[in-house]
Amino acid sequence: MKSDSWTRRTFLRTMGAAGTFAFGAKARSLERVEAASQSVAGQTAEEVAKDEFYWREVQLGFKLDRSLINLNNGFTAPCPRVVLESVFRYMEMINLLPVHYQAMVAGNSQTIRRRMANEFGCDPEEMALTRGASESLQIAINGIDLEAGDEVITTEQDYPRMLTTWDQRMRREGIKVTRLQFPVPATQDELYRLFEKAITPKTKVFHFCHMTNLTAQLFPVQRLSRLARSKGIVTIVDGAHSLGQFPFKLRDLECDAYGVSLHKWLLAPIGNGCLYVRREMIPRFWPLQAAPEQQDDDIRKFEAIGTHPWAIRAALGEALAYHQAIGAERKAARLRFLTLRWANALKAHPRIKILTDLSEPAQAWAVAAVNIEGIDVRALARFLMDKYRIIAVPLVGGAPPNQVFDYQALRVSPNIYTTLEEIDTFVEAMEDALESGVPDDQTPVPEAMPDNMDS
Ligand SMILES: Cc1ncc(COP(=O)(O)O)c(C=O)c1O
Repeated sequence: MKSDSWTRRTFLRTMGAAGTFAFGAKARSLERVEAASQSVAGQTAEEVAKDEFYWREVQLGFKLDRSLINLNNGFTAPCPRVVLESVFRYMEMINLLPVHYQAMVAGNSQTIRRRMANEFGCDPEEMALTRGASESLQIAINGIDLEAGDEVITTEQDYPRMLTTWDQRMRREGIKVTRLQFPVPATQDELYRLFEKAITPKTKVFHFCHMTNLTAQLFPVQRLSRLARSKGIVTIVDGAHSLGQFPFKLRDLECDAYGVSLHKWLLAPIGNGCLYVRREMIPRFWPLQAAPEQQDDDIRKFEAIGTHPWAIRAALGEALAYHQAIGAERKAARLRFLTLRWANALKAHPRIKILTDLSEPAQAWAVAAVNIEGIDVRALARFLMDKYRIIAVPLVGGAPPNQVFDYQALRVSPNIYTTLEEIDTFVEAMEDALESGVPDDQTPVPEAMPDNMDS
């Protein structure tokens, strides 16, 4: 079917049939997206990825500052209007009489656990709802029993907060942490062999990203988890950037623990995350905040954190509905389409180096890293902001416990609301930099904060 088959007429017909829509200010973003999705139901995700009329409906679902071009969605993303409105609604409701409504909203979050588990492929009893990937992964990292001399294998390009957490365990308990380095992009085989070769009789844990926050390097999670399990090694996987960006099922990964930031690619309000723990492994992890012994094998033990903003958690339900209204496959295909649009336009230039594997089958979707030979990436980020109002993150390696790497790159991460015009402006800006150079101003751009700014 042709990609232009999604027409204004089909849209009106669908909305009319749904009987819920009136044009104008009252248009509801979730309903619009659902109607748009119904209208393209016969098309492949790749066909819909190119359908600007479809994505226009999605773009309208956000309240944004379009005077800036946000290509740093890897940090956290704006949530759709319908999600934000539900935060306000739940906040107002709870505030009416907190003791009454908070308990009610908290109780109802069991529904969200079930819906999250259904969507992302695990048992609801394996899904804990948290406030972000840092919390999820710190539960796993600090929760596993280790003795002095036991060894953890991770990488130099894992997330700084997680490396810092392992570093603290090393200083406190005398465990050994081996940080592996790898070139980017690396193949799945290279990464597998790297871990395999590093195993010693003392290795107790593998910790690695499903997809790094730097060049979006993808790791072979299932293969590494099988290798680990065959040797009695626990796998803790950092999925901060993965869930919601591209489709997969948690149970297929076969890892033991998997931590996610839902305020990144699921477009949930800031303060949402989840922790998947394989059922048999739940008793092996202690919660970060103490829970009673009777809860040893209950996933809810990881959620016992006292009073916290339940409105934020409740609005996760709406973010999930928005994600489902688009569909995971369509979303991933669009994100990849946007990335390939800028990368294909730039890659032929001899001074352009792309550090993310963009070949088929897909290993990258919304996030990719690019470098211009001969230009400092901090000055490039400053130039993009000053001249074009484009926000993108310069990646520069640090020293332990931070991430260590020897390349420089600009991380570019558009989102489903990004327009083709915004992508093309980025291409134009990069061509301008290639042709005319950039001023040597490396002053950090505050808006271009890397997503490791708190470390
Ligand atoms: C790879 C990775 N892990 C963990 C985190 C921490 O996530 P959060 O800020 O949601 O705690 C991030 C955040 O950017 C990340 O990129």
